[in-house]
Amino acid sequence: MLYQFYQQQIFPHLLNQVMQTPSLMDKRRELLLPVAGEVLEIGFGTGINLPFYQNVDLLYALEPNQDVFKLASERIFASDIDVQHLQARAEHIPLADHSIDHVVSTWTLCSVKRLDQVLQEIQRVLKPTGTLHLVEHVLNTENKKIRQLQHLITPIQKHLADGCRLNRNIELALAKAGFQLDQYDYFYAEGIPKIGQQMLLARAQKLPSS
Ligand SMILES: C[S@@+](CC[C@H](N)C(=O)[O-])C[C@H]1O[C@@H](n2cnc3c(N)ncnc32)[C@H](O)[C@@H]1O
Repeated sequence: MLYQFYQQQIFPHLLNQVMQTPSLMDKRRELLLPVAGEVLEIGFGTGINLPFYQNVDLLYALEPNQDVFKLASERIFASDIDVQHLQARAEHIPLADHSIDHVVSTWTLCSVKRLDQVLQEIQRVLKPTGTLHLVEHVLNTENKKIRQLQHLITPIQKHLADGCRLNRNIELALAKAGFQLDQYDYFYAEGIPKIGQQMLLARAQKLPSS
């Protein structure tokens, strides 16, 4: 019961605050600048990306957690973009095959239960020329001690942060799913604890055979 109270009443507000860390806001701006047209955002959260979209007409905002999505209402109201909420998980995206130009994921691939299935779903809904734009925290590529800590802490982190895993190798998962990284940049985000500080900003396209 206490956990349910935490999940419904406290966690969404914590998420909304942490996800507005200035270094993360800078990366949102960089990631979303070239995104235009019809867009699917998976794990829309509290809608923090909305003001960063410059030329987006229609945004499918896929977010399964109602308690989190409620906190997006003011941002949606203030935005000129047509925002259509999809109350669904990214493991089953309720959109047609090859219908979307741009899919966006900002710190969501850490939280989905079935990363392999989600990446296949993104492949399915993307047009052949479509792009997945992402920024995610990752399994540390440079520091073995941090990697070990990430494996150790992840079971606790999953409970405290609604399924978030600290130890996902996103680059490897993308390659396995048949994505090709056109652009990628590993960086350390200021103001984030060392255990989750290394991040990947990337743009990925489907390989021709996918
Ligand atoms: C760390 S938050 C990031 C929120 C938002 N993308 C942002 O940048 O502020 C992860 C989000 O993924 C959502 N999520 C969790 N599991 C999901 C799933 N299977 N499919 C889609 N979204 C999911 C959570 O509800 C949460 O809103």
